[in-house]
Amino acid sequence: MSKETSTSLAELHSLAPVILPSLLLCDFGRLNDEIQRLEDAGVKALHLDVMDGQFVPNLSYGFPIVEAVRQATSLFLDVHLMIATPERYVEQFVQAGADLVTFHVEATQEPEAIIEKVRDQQACVGLAFNPHTPIDAVLPHADQCDLLLAMSVEPGFGGQEFNADVPGKIEALREKCTGKAVIEVDGGINPQTIGKTARAGADFFVAGSAIFRADDYGAAVEELHRLASVIDNQQ
Ligand code: DX5
Ligand code: ZN
Repeated sequence: MSKETSTSLAELHSLAPVILPSLLLCDFGRLNDEIQRLEDAGVKALHLDVMDGQFVPNLSYGFPIVEAVRQATSLFLDVHLMIATPERYVEQFVQAGADLVTFHVEATQEPEAIIEKVRDQQACVGLAFNPHTPIDAVLPHADQCDLLLAMSVEPGFGGQEFNADVPGKIEALREKCTGKAVIEVDGGINPQTIGKTARAGADFFVAGSAIFRADDYGAAVEELHRLASVIDNQQ
């Protein structure tokens, strides 16, 4: 039996800054324990990275893992599709348990149709864009989306270096995007980089290595949260 999600996107948004662990670097042999440790660490949502070896030069996982995570937890599931022709699969990811399905603007010719498909399934929809994609590619769709995801590394791998140009793009997005879409940042987020993205206007922060390479997940999440909350100081 799948668990019911306990938090809506609107509730999560009201809790911003929100830290979302990316499961890419977790120990999949002990998936349930890892999820339990994250719940104990106080996280409210999980980020799941789906890669197809085509849109990005890496393969990760698909429906069975999303289903297994859904069965293990009632946390909000943020599913990030790094796949070509996402229109073929978005419905199945919602059925597998995604609360939010995010696809890449670079991966499709028909973003509006995908947005509609996800909405028809009563799920939230996000639009992601790579570090070198201009924000003009997402702005025309921003009002139809629940979330805009600014990639701060080239998608495909955890543990890469943060792209320092991305806070400027987040700032421009925040300024031009008058709707209520959540702004999420993903890639290279750690105690040194998170503050810059928070000050630029991000609400949600995906972190993989900064959490999974720490011994104490709770302390790592808390530190990131603290640094994302201190937006007045130049740390
Ligand atoms: C990259 C993924 C990220 C990544 C984050 O393609 O979308 O979610 O796993 O990992 P870190 O925080 O290590 O960059
Ligand atoms: Zn991701």
